[in-house]
Amino acid sequence: MILPGRASQALAIALARATGDELVEVTTERFPDGELIVQVPSTAGERAVIVASTVSDAAFVELLLLQDAAREAGARQLTTVVPYLGYARQDSAFHPGQPVSVRAVARAIGSGTDRVITVDPHTADVVDHFSVEATAISAADRLAEPLPSGLTDPLFLAPDASAIEAATAVRAAYGTGEVDHFEKTRESGREVEVFPSDADPTGRDVVLVDDIVSTGGTMRQAASILRDRDADRIFATCIHPLLTGGARTRLARAGVTELFGTDTIERPESVISVAPAIAPLLEE
Ligand code: R5P
Repeated sequence: MILPGRASQALAIALARATGDELVEVTTERFPDGELIVQVPSTAGERAVIVASTVSDAAFVELLLLQDAAREAGARQLTTVVPYLGYARQDSAFHPGQPVSVRAVARAIGSGTDRVITVDPHTADVVDHFSVEATAISAADRLAEPLPSGLTDPLFLAPDASAIEAATAVRAAYGTGEVDHFEKTRESGREVEVFPSDADPTGRDVVLVDDIVSTGGTMRQAASILRDRDADRIFATCIHPLLTGGARTRLARAGVTELFGTDTIERPESVISVAPAIAPLLEE
């Protein structure tokens, strides 16, 4: 049976359809003081799968409550699918006195489950922080799905070096084109500086590929450089479309033609499902 977190209902439905597992209804309420309570049906003797992206602190607490409720209700085996693992970008103590935040959240999630599955975490080694078996799958090749056929001399571009692998996977899935990357330095949570390569996008269709679009600052700078170099269409694709604040406007103003993401985070742009990539792991 599949138990959806409120932030991951579309993906939970897609996974239930792909695996044939029962999709159960979880109810939630808040106490007068604002604290959350969840209610799951009996999971007695069942193999239960929680699907819950930790897109916010509230979603993280909800996930921990779902795990405990599933155990209390008798689950025989519990798998926790965290399609988008929040706090994964804080993968080291950036300054003295700060936490390795991803380790803290992984410890908490790992203590309430038998197994964890996540999708394109910010760095692959986050799986080492879980105390139980943890698998990170990549859905980057799926980002080619919504791209129009017949792109003009396509350039698959990573806005920084960490996305080269994803850009290469999208290019391979699309079947033709060149891969290149820019470099980036991050000044703060909201400010980045992108340094272009010698890539010549003039008159070409460009596909920007990144793991996350949050403020849109990274993609915006890359798109502005491409537009100044007379690129034709600019498609922005990512696994996790966080799209905080005015990200969409920033990208549109920078010349991005279309923006696509996956259903690890539910947004209007989440037109690609990662369910086909996760489902085989649930059948093991
Ligand atoms: C960071 O290294 C990630 O790969 C993304 O480039 C980053 O999270 C994007 O954030 P933003 O949209 O705020 O620039």
